[in-house]
Amino acid sequence: MENKWDHLVKNMPNRLAPSMAKDHPNLPVIKEEGCYYFGVDGKQYLDFTSGIAVTNVGHRHPKVVQSIKDAADGLMHGPSGVIMYESILRLADELADIMPGNLDCFFFANSGTEAVEGALKLAKYVTKRPYVVSFTGGFHGRSLGALGVTTSKSKYRKFMQPSGLTYQVPYANVKECPAGLDPEAYVIEKLERDFATLFSHQVTPEEVACVILEPVLGEGGYVVPPKGWLKKVREICDRHQILLIFDEVQTGFGRTGEWFAAQTFDVTPDIMAIAKGIASGLPLSATVASNELMKQWPLGSHGTTFGGNPIACSVALTTLSIIKEENLLENTKQMGSYAVQQLEEMKKRHRVIGSIRAVGLMIGIEIINPQTGQPNGSGLLKILDAALKKGVLFYLCGNHGEVIRIIPPLIVTKEQIDVGLQLLDEAIMEYEETLMSLEGI
Ligand SMILES: Cc1ncc(COP(=O)(O)O)c(C=O)c1O
Repeated sequence: MENKWDHLVKNMPNRLAPSMAKDHPNLPVIKEEGCYYFGVDGKQYLDFTSGIAVTNVGHRHPKVVQSIKDAADGLMHGPSGVIMYESILRLADELADIMPGNLDCFFFANSGTEAVEGALKLAKYVTKRPYVVSFTGGFHGRSLGALGVTTSKSKYRKFMQPSGLTYQVPYANVKECPAGLDPEAYVIEKLERDFATLFSHQVTPEEVACVILEPVLGEGGYVVPPKGWLKKVREICDRHQILLIFDEVQTGFGRTGEWFAAQTFDVTPDIMAIAKGIASGLPLSATVASNELMKQWPLGSHGTTFGGNPIACSVALTTLSIIKEENLLENTKQMGSYAVQQLEEMKKRHRVIGSIRAVGLMIGIEIINPQTGQPNGSGLLKILDAALKKGVLFYLCGNHGEVIRIIPPLIVTKEQIDVGLQLLDEAIMEYEETLMSLEGI
């Protein structure tokens, strides 16, 4: 007999836009809990995606579920400004304690792209400068302002190119370093040269409001820059009174082993965009800056109807306390380095694994064509499909879709990492066997 899901799929017209509903792997799911999804097929899947770095404290943490119920008994909607409520005030106060430097003032919104929009608008407003510099390969969202600084894939911009002019410089790429040179020194020196070229050929530094970057390149391929490179970006901004924006939408809330990558890399930006892990799946984000900077952005220059929703703020408070109570920053560091050790061993057995790039539980495995060394996005999809059949879910990134993203919930255990990586190992082995039969070896 036809089950409910098959019936739904067969009889439903195509009401969901393909751009929304066809990403990989599009697994039909009825429930989520901890580090697991439960499929409509009755199978349990280990989740190494965290809903793209969102459910850092695990799916449907019981305290999160309870706080949604409790909050809904009081308030469901603001908007802040028309009314004022405890959860938004307390959240701003508690967040201020964990932010880097003097970033202690918050404009709450709903999504990562909105937090980026706010950051760009704030920088333009306070500097009265028109232009923005971002890094090639960066992903900052899909609304037109954020898209203007997003260059991870041209398909995101095709026929929708933003009208505002922005400038790009290359992100740190230690792989380009010629043999015999120190990779960190090489990328730092190159950064100075790239900015000098930009400022002398295209835009003067006095016209630049801000430089925006992801402290670890996310969608663009999980590229971890050397600390010194990020410090150099800070230095170049300071030299020209340009504001530095960190997009910590993906790197935030413990993902790198500290609250934010700014702390992991010991570089403090002027403005931050935060979202994803903040409220365990409820829509919430923030543009963050010092009070000194924020107070130059007057009433009416920015606004929101839904931003800082009371239930989402309550859940964010609960999420912060879970991260503290369950010691998840420490777990992230320990599980991250354990997973990388295992992966380095795995790399020795597999020709298709290129580099492994990691900070905390933000781990990228590059899949290459073993004969050419080139990125191998189609091979990666075969590996992820095989892994999914075995019961573990991974996501992908990289300009050619060639990097496996491993971003489990930060509650992940050693046993779960062992299971997930064992299944990945088997999936890669199967793919390599098919390659060998094609090569006739
Ligand atoms: C670094 C970064 N910035 C911004 C965004 C956009 O966030 P959203 O999809 O919530 O708009 C993302 C989403 O993946 C992201 O990874």
